[in-house]
Amino acid sequence: MKGVVLAAGLGTRFKSEKSKLLHPLLGKPVIWHTVNSLKRGGINDITLVISEATEEIKEHLEGVEYVYQDNPKGGTGDALLSFLKQNGDYHGYLFVINGDTPLVKPETIKNMIAFLNLTEEYEGIKPSGIVMTASIENPYGYGRVIKDDENHLVAIREEKDATEKEREIKEVNSGVYILKKDDTEKALKAIKPSKVTGELYLTEALNYLAEKGLIVKVFNASEPTEILGINTRLDLAIAESVLRIRINLEWMERGVTIHSPETVWIEPKVEIDKDVEIFPNAFLKGKTKIGKNAVIGTGSVIEDTIIEEGVTVEPYTIIKNSTIKEKAVVGPFAHVRENTIIGEGSHIGNFVEVKKCTIERDVKAKHLSYLGDATVGRGTNIGAGTVTANYDGKKKHKTNIGEQAFIGSNSLLIAPINIGSLSYIAGGSVINKDVPEGSLAVERAELKILKDKGKKKLQK
Ligand code: UD1
Ligand code: MG
Repeated sequence: MKGVVLAAGLGTRFKSEKSKLLHPLLGKPVIWHTVNSLKRGGINDITLVISEATEEIKEHLEGVEYVYQDNPKGGTGDALLSFLKQNGDYHGYLFVINGDTPLVKPETIKNMIAFLNLTEEYEGIKPSGIVMTASIENPYGYGRVIKDDENHLVAIREEKDATEKEREIKEVNSGVYILKKDDTEKALKAIKPSKVTGELYLTEALNYLAEKGLIVKVFNASEPTEILGINTRLDLAIAESVLRIRINLEWMERGVTIHSPETVWIEPKVEIDKDVEIFPNAFLKGKTKIGKNAVIGTGSVIEDTIIEEGVTVEPYTIIKNSTIKEKAVVGPFAHVRENTIIGEGSHIGNFVEVKKCTIERDVKAKHLSYLGDATVGRGTNIGAGTVTANYDGKKKHKTNIGEQAFIGSNSLLIAPINIGSLSYIAGGSVINKDVPEGSLAVERAELKILKDKGKKKLQK
């Protein structure tokens, strides 16, 4: 079955300079979720109907086709016609979905297709269409569904065209359909645009089919939240909450502990192993992977990062594009970024920033440091306040620190520089020459202590 996603509309109610379909919903554009659901629902041959106003969509999707709707104000019927014009030789069913309906579950899509197959098999009929509906408390803005005793569609009445009585109907059109291509095409060519809006409604084509005595079945979504259409910023915020809770519940079912799940943000591509414990207000973004028994502290933001088994991320830690190896501890208030590797069992502590570094195992840098473009060998201790001066105003340079070294507090290591294994840098030193293995390096002005001089100065 071919899939068609209607994604050419202007979305004026969203009041944005870019298409509402490109706005982020849990870290991915709205349209990505719609297409992803279709794919996971078993629809692989997907075409999006786009327009010049929405063509930026192309930058965010893979493995789909596109056709253009010339007039993005033409309406949903006109959008589908744009697809049909290009696909004259196809005569099967189409799975059609409004691009602004990102919460439809893949299982519901599969169930709807199964419903079509069962109708064919057991009732011996090939319906002209199936429309997905749900009953919702506040149906404002949606097309209301009028049906007969056999659960067949009689008509869909758009908000603007509905009578007061019809507006009381709570069952609404989701904007998700299975349509027999040839019947739908005939109907779309027969109907006229709405007198109120000038748009050609896809729903009017279904009404036409029903009027002609053809069968359009009604299929209920499994949950009313699935059919939420994103028309306003409020819809987007509601959709984000629904999706967030849905994803968090799935992880809990798979054995992840989430404290206050209503506050935790886990994006759709994140992977989490068993017995991970996640504290409130954590953000797991992009393609992050979290290994078994890891603990993710409150307020942490972790993006495109691999967190291995048994790692502890203490509260308020930011990690991006990095790998944290087994049993390492990072934070609280640490910042790890840009291709950093933190070795097994290492500790990166309070107010330590690490950028593009390879930190080997059992290293300690527990307080107030900047490590940039550096390698640090196994077992080395980086004292509080250590800074690798990696930038000379023009270029970045590397710092290499060997194994089991001791870098005293407040050391300044001016790169490019090599500090050998087992070397000892005395606290407060400014080091601008290589320090060979096993050496002690001290760079300090001589300390003078003048007895009673302080008191005298103060009493003057
Ligand atoms: C539509 C349905 C309504 C349903 C609701 C569900 C129609 C006439 N109405 O209303 O019955 O309850 O969805 O969410 O279909 N689009 C185009 N080209 C256009 C116009 C729209 O591609 O010319 C696309 C939009 O980009 C959007 C989708 O179609 O993704 C739906 O359009 P929208 O304007 O949001 O329709 P609704 O008023 O929500
Ligand atoms: Mg809509």
